Amino acid sequence: MSKQASTSRLTVRDIQALRDRGEPIAVLTAYDYVTAALLDRSGVELILVGDSLGNVILGYDTTIPVTLDDMIRHTAAVNRATERAMVVCDLPFGVATDPESALKAAIEVFQKTGAQGVKLEGGTHMAPVVERLTSQGIAVMGHIGLVPQSVHRLGGYYRHGKDLVSAEALIKDALALQEAGAFSIVLELIVPEIAEKITRALKIPTIGIGSGAGCSGQVLVVNDLIGLNIKPAPSFAAPKADVATVIRQAVESYVNEVKHPHDHNPPQSR
Ligand code: KIV
Repeated sequence: MSKQASTSRLTVRDIQALRDRGEPIAVLTAYDYVTAALLDRSGVELILVGDSLGNVILGYDTTIPVTLDDMIRHTAAVNRATERAMVVCDLPFGVATDPESALKAAIEVFQKTGAQGVKLEGGTHMAPVVERLTSQGIAVMGHIGLVPQSVHRLGGYYRHGKDLVSAEALIKDALALQEAGAFSIVLELIVPEIAEKITRALKIPTIGIGSGAGCSGQVLVVNDLIGLNIKPAPSFAAPKADVATVIRQAVESYVNEVKHPHDHNPPQSR
């Protein structure tokens, strides 16, 4: 049974109010109970259970193998851990291919996890899906620019909006998602000037990742922020800690103690 919404939890209205008064919105991803609880106690306003779960937690090369069941299990844990932050669950690859499949998946997410919103990747062509979900009372976050679920169509992970055609398409995408009822839009790896232009063109908040400071808020993959990675974090992440080293040092010290117990706990002399 999922935890019911508490009255102190932030809602889409609070997220919009932050944007309206020009206060940047702090968003991070989380995938597990402990991390989500710590984020929730540290002032993060929205927690995204991203399908980056696939890269960060499950060890896949892309987000494509992540399933709806994976997302549901981790989102439920994040939601149980949190009292204040709004929790949004990414709809993974292949579940939002048409409005009815997306609605079925979003209903399952809402009923099994208690999350308060879903996110889906894609621009203008996803507007009918966003419209269907919002018409049923589901809060939807859009995601444009670099959309990792389309990595094979895009041919890699790179910055978007570099030329006029692509910049204009991004602005159109953002307006279409807003018109369809999205409550906010993630702008991933978009040329900062274009991200700022999109933000100014919209009434709803934009949440940037690697898209400059001109967005209404910022999101990072939490492992990139805290330095808990095997592979290097993207250059825009600027880690604020080195948790991987802390873990390695603690574990090496433990292994050493186990291997050499007498060096650490010398027998008591009489
Ligand atoms: O999956 C994810 O974590 C995301 C964020 C990086 C925006 O989509």
